Amino acid sequence: MGKKKLTRWDLQKMKESGEKAVWITAYDYWNASFAEKAGMDMILVGDSLGMCVYGYESTVPVTMEQCIYHSEAVRRAAKNTFIVGDMPFLSYQISIENAVLNAGRFHKEAAVDAIKLEGGKRVCPQIRAITDGGMLVMGHIGLTPQSSGQLGGFKAQGRTADAAFELIEDAKAIQKAGAFSVLVEAVPPEVCNIIRKTLTIPVYSIGAGIDADGQLMISSDVAGVFQAFTPKFVKKYENLADKTIKAFSDYRDDVKEGKFPALEHTYKMVDGELDKLITNLKKG
Ligand code: KIV
Repeated sequence: MGKKKLTRWDLQKMKESGEKAVWITAYDYWNASFAEKAGMDMILVGDSLGMCVYGYESTVPVTMEQCIYHSEAVRRAAKNTFIVGDMPFLSYQISIENAVLNAGRFHKEAAVDAIKLEGGKRVCPQIRAITDGGMLVMGHIGLTPQSSGQLGGFKAQGRTADAAFELIEDAKAIQKAGAFSVLVEAVPPEVCNIIRKTLTIPVYSIGAGIDADGQLMISSDVAGVFQAFTPKFVKKYENLADKTIKAFSDYRDDVKEGKFPALEHTYKMVDGELDKLITNLKKG
């Protein structure tokens, strides 16, 4: 559509010039095409698809097959947008070799531009190996939903001096391991801002305040589709759930009341063919 796909260096320059990057999740063809048309700088095919598409209670059950399948659909729709594939639970924790193989699958099968994985120092060997394999890695720290059990739930992170210090150390280690950017989730803005100033690579926020180099939001939250719960950091820009329920119930009422389909929603027989049919039927 005339738009040029950004590269990691464009994203790096945006940080340096102070231009905010804006990105959103997408899991299917239609939402990815809307995201590209809306001018998103990046799309994340997040493992949040487990909750937003499949109705799981967490992202833990999400598989590589599901992530690849949805990433392929997103790539078909958003050919000119930088796409980040999200490594699901157990696709990178088991071994470094397994992490490189799975990161490679995202690239070979879904043509993503980068992958994202959760964790700080403890996943730096994987970040280094995937980067050495020629791929771009985005780190993800703060509230890391795949380890929400260890974190005690979907809770804000880095709220004490010690916890914030650890997050800053994690961010530095991720940059040193070769990541091209870091996403910080559900962390006080002051802490995210220190991380942004400390790192030379872009630092993005979801629920970590306005000072980051860019913002990510979940598409189902922005459009007002996801109904199970609303995190504090979400701003709903629409209420598509209510609008869709209204469209479905209007359709239901029309059918029940004999108002749908109207003549304009039906096909005409070729001129003269109905008479011919009736005559043939009468003849038997
Ligand atoms: O899966 C996802 O959408 C994510 C965001 C919650 C950051 O990783």
